[in-house]
Amino acid sequence: MIQMTKYFMGIDTSAYTTSIAIIDEFHNIIFDERSLLEVRQGDRGLRQQEAVFQHLNNIPRMIDTLSNKIELSKIKTVSASVKPRNLKESYMPVFKVAQGQAFVISRILNADYKEFSHQDGHIAAGVLGSSFNHKGPFLAFHISGGTTELLLVEDNIKSYDIKLIGGTKDISAGQLIDRIGVKLGFGFPCGKEMDMLSQNGNIINKKLPINTDDTWINFSGAESFFYRLIEEKLYNNEDISNSVFHCIANALANVVIESIKVYDINDILIIGGVAANSLIRQILNQRIYESGLGSIYFPIAEYCTDNALGTAFLGAIKRGEKSFGGL
Ligand code: KG4
Repeated sequence: MIQMTKYFMGIDTSAYTTSIAIIDEFHNIIFDERSLLEVRQGDRGLRQQEAVFQHLNNIPRMIDTLSNKIELSKIKTVSASVKPRNLKESYMPVFKVAQGQAFVISRILNADYKEFSHQDGHIAAGVLGSSFNHKGPFLAFHISGGTTELLLVEDNIKSYDIKLIGGTKDISAGQLIDRIGVKLGFGFPCGKEMDMLSQNGNIINKKLPINTDDTWINFSGAESFFYRLIEEKLYNNEDISNSVFHCIANALANVVIESIKVYDINDILIIGGVAANSLIRQILNQRIYESGLGSIYFPIAEYCTDNALGTAFLGAIKRGEKSFGGL
């Protein structure tokens, strides 16, 4: 009897993007669609209710595209990112959309239903989209719009065991980028555009505020520093963007090097939207290489920014929570 290929579907509805993905049992990508939420010019993000509304409008259109492209009967598992982190109290309204839609789709398709966290999805996407092949615990640096967290990660049957061991004590790397970007007049989120501009820029001739202590970072000093710089009008957007990424990359590198020493783990996976940045990748790679202490892995850029590939992949390899919101 010919065995039919099995598909694993994932849905992620973050504060930035509606994502739906399908992978097969060999982890090939069958479908990967993302819709960046629309933010008004000058705004620094969306209120949760606005993001929920956009997800509710995006999903039917994306499911319609999907149903015209793939054989739905092959979907054996539907997984959702249902909360930001793998913690009991972790909650954000946007993820309720993925949770509800994935559950309904699973019941209609008579497929399994699994729940994971958005952060688990980012880690899994990092594993799927890189040559990272850890044995035992590893370090993951999650650098996104709302998160800059250094994590000690161990695999378990359900998903990952995660311990927070460092990161930002105030704003996230993504917030720093987006706040400066909006001040410079870019549309939110600004990282990608600033990334491209920074490649034609140079680091400014001033001491950059890189504030780290042990495995922790403060970015708000850098925020005030760059706001002042923008008001001075002495530097162009290319140089400001280039310097912002230098500042972030060096802060991240200080903390990664410190954590390798403290935890004696030398495999580090970098994940999240900010990890797509060319200059940050280059500087982090160079600093970790020069330290001679560890090996750093970056997924290809499409696996860094929000996606549902990680959630789909988790559905294929992990048990997750199998009931709807603990029902
Ligand atoms: O992981 P992500 O897509 O969404 C979540 O936070 O969950 O990260 C979004 C953040 C935004 O701050 C965006 O400006 C930033 O990632 N970002 C980038 C780049 N692409 C996205 N930052 C720097 N360079 C990029 N190429």
